[in-house]
Amino acid sequence: MIQGKTIIVIGASGNIGSVLSRVFHEAGANIVLSARTSEKLEVLSKKLGTDRTLAVTTDATKPAMVEKLLLTAQNTFGHVDAVVITAGRWDRLSIKNQPDEARDLALRHFESLFLPTLVAAFTAQRFFRQTERDTGLIINISSHAAIRRELVGNLSYGPMKAAARQFILAMGHELQLEKSMVRATDLQPAIVNTLDNRDLLDTEEKRAQAVQPEDIARWIIDHFNDPNIPVEHLFDSQVIL
Ligand SMILES: NC(=O)c1ccc[n+]([C@@H]2O[C@H](COP(=O)([O-])OP(=O)(O)OC[C@H]3O[C@@H](n4cnc5c(N)ncnc54)[C@H](OP(=O)(O)O)[C@@H]3O)[C@@H](O)[C@H]2O)c1
Repeated sequence: MIQGKTIIVIGASGNIGSVLSRVFHEAGANIVLSARTSEKLEVLSKKLGTDRTLAVTTDATKPAMVEKLLLTAQNTFGHVDAVVITAGRWDRLSIKNQPDEARDLALRHFESLFLPTLVAAFTAQRFFRQTERDTGLIINISSHAAIRRELVGNLSYGPMKAAARQFILAMGHELQLEKSMVRATDLQPAIVNTLDNRDLLDTEEKRAQAVQPEDIARWIIDHFNDPNIPVEHLFDSQVIL
C-alpha cells in the first residue's frame, strides 16, 4: 500500500520516529530521515540499509531548511508523497512550579513542539500544492494531552500540543475549501511504549497496555491512500502511571 511511496519523517531519530521509519521502510517505501543531529540519522540509516533511505539534517523550525529537505527528497526519489512530523518531547509543568519556570518552559515548548509542526506542515502543503499532482499527506504526531485536561503536569506541553493540533485541523479545513487533494491529519497517542518510557512503564503489563509505535505506523499505512482520511485520531490506552 505504501510500496514505492516517498515518506519524509521529521524526528526520524526519535523514539517514535525511528519505529515509524523502520515499519515504512519494511513496507517498501522510500524513507527520508530527518532531524537536527546528523549522527543519529546516519546510525538509523545504516540500520535500515542505505537502499531506499536518505538522511537529511534539518531543523524543522526553519522554513528554508524544510523547503530544501522537500526538494532533496523529490530530486532523489522523483516524488514526495507524505511528511510525518514527530518532533519534540514532554516536560512537566504543574501548579507546583514557579512562575518563571512556567514562562521558560512555555517558550521552550513553543519552539520545540509548536514551531516544528507549523513550519514543516505549512511548507509541505505549499510544496505539494505547487506540484502538478496537487496531492500529498501531512501527518502530525500530537498527543492525547492536546485534547484532555485531566492529565497532571501538562500545563505547558498540553496547551502547545493543542495549538499544533488546531493548526493542523485549520490548515486541513482551508485545503478542503480550496478543493486541494493535499490531506492533513493529527494523531493523538496516549503514553507510547518506547525505550525512553522504560522507567515509567516498569512492568510488562504497562508496556503492553501503552500505545505501541508500530500501531501508529500501521494506522498511517492503512490510511495512506484514503482520500477521506480522518482529520484526527486518538490512540487511547488504559495504562496508569
Ligand atoms: N513518547 C511518548 O510517549 C509520546 C506520547 C504521545 C505523543 N508523543 C509525541 O510524539 C513526538 C515524538 O516523541 P518521541 O518520544 O519520539 O520524542 P524523541 O525521542 O525526543 O524524538 C524527537 C525527535 O525529534 C527531533 N527533533 C526535535 N526538534 C527538532 C527540530 N526542530 N527539527 C527537526 N527534528 C527535531 C529529534 O532529533 P534532534 O534532537 O536531533 O533534532 C528526535 O529525532 C513528540 O511530538 C511527542 O510530543 C510522544
